Amino acid sequence: MHKYNFLEGILFLSTAFNEKKLRRELQGKTILITGASSGIGKELAYLLANINVHMILVARREEQLLTIKKELEKGEAKVSVFRADLRNSEEMERLLAFVHQLPGGIDIVVSNAGLSIHRPISKSLDRYHDFTRTMAINYFAPVQLLLSVIPLLEKNKGHVINVSTINALLIPIPYWAAYQASKSAFDTWFRSSTPELNVLGILTTSIYLPLVRTPMIEPTASYQDVPAMSSIHVAKIIARSMYTKRKIYKPWWLIFGQLGSLFGRGLWEIFIPKMLRKEREKMHDR
Ligand SMILES: NC(=O)c1ccc[n+]([C@@H]2O[C@H](COP(=O)([O-])OP(=O)(O)OC[C@H]3O[C@@H](n4cnc5c(N)ncnc54)[C@H](OP(=O)(O)O)[C@@H]3O)[C@@H](O)[C@H]2O)c1
Repeated sequence: MHKYNFLEGILFLSTAFNEKKLRRELQGKTILITGASSGIGKELAYLLANINVHMILVARREEQLLTIKKELEKGEAKVSVFRADLRNSEEMERLLAFVHQLPGGIDIVVSNAGLSIHRPISKSLDRYHDFTRTMAINYFAPVQLLLSVIPLLEKNKGHVINVSTINALLIPIPYWAAYQASKSAFDTWFRSSTPELNVLGILTTSIYLPLVRTPMIEPTASYQDVPAMSSIHVAKIIARSMYTKRKIYKPWWLIFGQLGSLFGRGLWEIFIPKMLRKEREKMHDR
């Protein structure tokens, strides 16, 4: 497990976590977790393994899901795995059919599956597909999933937890256009729908995450030495929201970034192009 250094300890204050309350809250419930084959989704599944729940774990890599199922079933949880590429309508429909035939429906959806892409626009000119594939998994898939399961969640007075990113609340940063636009699209959809869902008796939680040390950030070399949350910490934050029913999680320091985004846009638009220009010049000199 990743151990926090001093700075990470301050940035990512530990989360009070009450296993008894969680256990009481979740008894007998059915929880759908998308993106459960690695990173945050997988860690969450392990955290819930000793509770009497039915977990439905969804992702494309079936082998990983089956290995996880085998290990988790040593605990109390019942585990179903469902292989699906959520960008593919037919595979999504099969998942939805499976969910709809469950006698008790579902109680909690953790919308977590996601894809990130770090690429400058200048290197994306022939890569329109980067923009369609991020929208497909980060926006259209959770919309399609939720539209279908809202009646089930309404019946059970259920809960939707969206695993979002702090970037959805901040000034967008260069090189992340595809990822940020698609995550922000779903964040906006979810925030817009929240009052309507709440009226139906469906609870909603948005988890705004900073960098998290998962396979998602492995390809980005510059992130290896940057402070990052651990996936077990994030799993605890998500699980905690299941019994606190808190509507939003965000790191304590995000407010400063939000204020900066609000009042510092002018400065940002002067400073960032200068920085990018210098970076380009350095690259050309090499
Ligand atoms: N890591 C970070 O720094 C960070 C920061 C903020 C927010 N987040 C968010 O946290 C969530 C989880 O990411 P992670 O960091 O745990 O990354 P990860 O380890 O790469 O996990 C992503 C999960 O999504 C699944 N997935 C991707 N494309 C899919 C598709 N087309 N159909 C079905 N499942 C798909 C992957 O499974 P398969 O490949 O097996 O399909 C995997 O289980 C994402 O929504 C991400 O945007 C992450």
